Amino acid sequence: MGNNFQNVLNFYETYEEHSRLCKPTGQLEFERTIDIIERYIPESSSTLLDIGGGTGPYSCYLANKGHDVHLVDPVHKHVVLAQQASESQPENPILTCTVGDARKLDFDNDFADAVLLLGPLYHLTERHERICALRESFRILKAGGVVFAVGISRFASVLSGMISETFTDPDFFAIVQQDLKDGQHRNVPGKSYFTDSFFHLPSELEEEVSEAEFRVEAMLAIEGPAWILNNLENHLSERAKKQKLMQVLGLIERDPALMASSLHFMAIGRKS
Ligand SMILES: C[S@@+](CC[C@H](N)C(=O)[O-])C[C@H]1O[C@@H](n2cnc3c(N)ncnc32)[C@H](O)[C@@H]1O
Repeated sequence: MGNNFQNVLNFYETYEEHSRLCKPTGQLEFERTIDIIERYIPESSSTLLDIGGGTGPYSCYLANKGHDVHLVDPVHKHVVLAQQASESQPENPILTCTVGDARKLDFDNDFADAVLLLGPLYHLTERHERICALRESFRILKAGGVVFAVGISRFASVLSGMISETFTDPDFFAIVQQDLKDGQHRNVPGKSYFTDSFFHLPSELEEEVSEAEFRVEAMLAIEGPAWILNNLENHLSERAKKQKLMQVLGLIERDPALMASSLHFMAIGRKS
């Protein structure tokens, strides 16, 4: 097991992942991600694998919609919290919550209609590890199945530094320089600038998904530039304003020139 992976596990043992999606940026990320996923799966009764599913927000939502959902995550604490979340919806539980790694999954070939990779690809810092995880998703998908492969933008740190005004910290400035150079994001001891990750250019994510034999049907920005807004909460608090924001994000979600301004973007890969 590499040091990077161990650092990721250590980070999530103390990080409050379950409250991340409650913040305005997290709310936007969740709603846009669900909006995209639901365009590519039937309304119910699909077999879905949420790999790197964390504490289970997407699994719970999709199980409630009538899908057969299995969650896998390498962080034991996340799996326990996902199991608890599942138990709070006994009518529509997540079918299984297990500790595991996207690179080697305990599911049969041709098992799933869709695989969600909303996390593993940016925490696997080496390209060959990401290809391995994508090939494993390919193996367990049925023919015609789809992978939702999410990356974090190469420009995530430089943009979030502008919002939080953290450039005055020389450690952060050095992190930003490295991120921009090759996408290899590392925290430094005693600081809380996320954890070991690889931050993609959209073209890199698209190319990796293709290399794993998927046909890339779309590259879609998740939050677009809206995550940078300091009045995002206002946009989300009123129904009409929120609908308009979502409509605008739909207009620009495929624009290659704006793609990397989004904190996250998603490759939709089809096993054909
Ligand atoms: C930021 S969280 C995202 C959780 C959830 N998918 C979401 O979008 O809200 C990233 C998740 O990826 C998981 N992860 C990291 N490396 C992984 C790997 N090699 N295989 C599977 N999951 C991994 C982490 O444990 C963590 O739960």
